[in-house]
Amino acid sequence: MTSKAAPEAATPGIVRIYRLLDPRPDAFLGDVLAGLARPQKAVPPKYFYDDRGSALFEQICELDEYYPTRTELAIMRECMDDLARLLGPDTELVEFGSGASIKSRILIERMRPSLYVPVDIAEGALRTAADALAERFPWLNVSGVVADFAQPLVLPEFVALPVRRRVVYFPGSTVGNFTPEEALSFLRRVHDLLGPGGVLVIGVDTKKSKAVLDAAYDDARGVTAEFNLNLLRRINRELGGDFQLSRFRHKAFYDEAAGRVEMHLESTHAQFARVGGRRFDFAPGETIHTEISCKYAIEEFRAMGEAARFHTQAVYTDPDRLFAVYAMMAV
Ligand code: AVJ
Repeated sequence: MTSKAAPEAATPGIVRIYRLLDPRPDAFLGDVLAGLARPQKAVPPKYFYDDRGSALFEQICELDEYYPTRTELAIMRECMDDLARLLGPDTELVEFGSGASIKSRILIERMRPSLYVPVDIAEGALRTAADALAERFPWLNVSGVVADFAQPLVLPEFVALPVRRRVVYFPGSTVGNFTPEEALSFLRRVHDLLGPGGVLVIGVDTKKSKAVLDAAYDDARGVTAEFNLNLLRRINRELGGDFQLSRFRHKAFYDEAAGRVEMHLESTHAQFARVGGRRFDFAPGETIHTEISCKYAIEEFRAMGEAARFHTQAVYTDPDRLFAVYAMMAV
């Protein structure tokens, strides 16, 4: 836990960081060994985000092909007056998967929340973003939480502040990393965290043409490929693996029937790799499944919200309906 001096005119706001992460130091190893032992080898996408992975993801967000980030930012700027009216004053703003907290700046600036609670698994990115926000908004209290928000989460008891409403902000279509079943139980947990009257503001990518989605996840400059392959680099470095990165290639495609993008790392040869003393064999063309990114039509996501007892108060979208931001109240 770090804390800074009380805020004065130009001194940064108070920053506290709480670590709620799984205390098992070998969680990464356990998840990788279990995932690679499955018939369809798989590694959970949360492990993309070491410092290098977080930086590569920031680069993805600036790619021409990767429309979600700039589209969501434009929607947020456009809808902010309406959203601020809807949310009202004195909110506690909790953000899941805050990363570099770029989108939240728009919300923070306009809403002036009593407390900002970024929750992210990437401790380095969380600390940097929390410090930058406290610097930029000297009046802001930041209580960062290092945690895996996919797991049931109980937030620490925060200092008593005049909070009228809890707001959970979950941008970036990160909810797409869950299967629809997982997304529904996630929404139910968010409902519990919010309590009746609390509002979820969530950014969700829409269904669209395969050409646009294929390009968004397999960009010409190969940044997404680097991001995907970095997972093997991380396994090598942190778990003493011996994957040969040059013998795997990035594979990403939109499965229209399933309404989701899949990312894989495809073995280009017959080979094996060792991790944690275990040997894993690969046939040529065999893949490690690294990510799903589910896409939802607006009516689909609204219905999922309803199934989790959320009433959709507003849906904001861009003229091409590439992306949607929902304000959903827990009822
Ligand atoms: C951060 C999960 C929303 O699925 O679009 C971007 C991650 N993967 N390019 C997404 C990602 C490849 C991103 N999310």
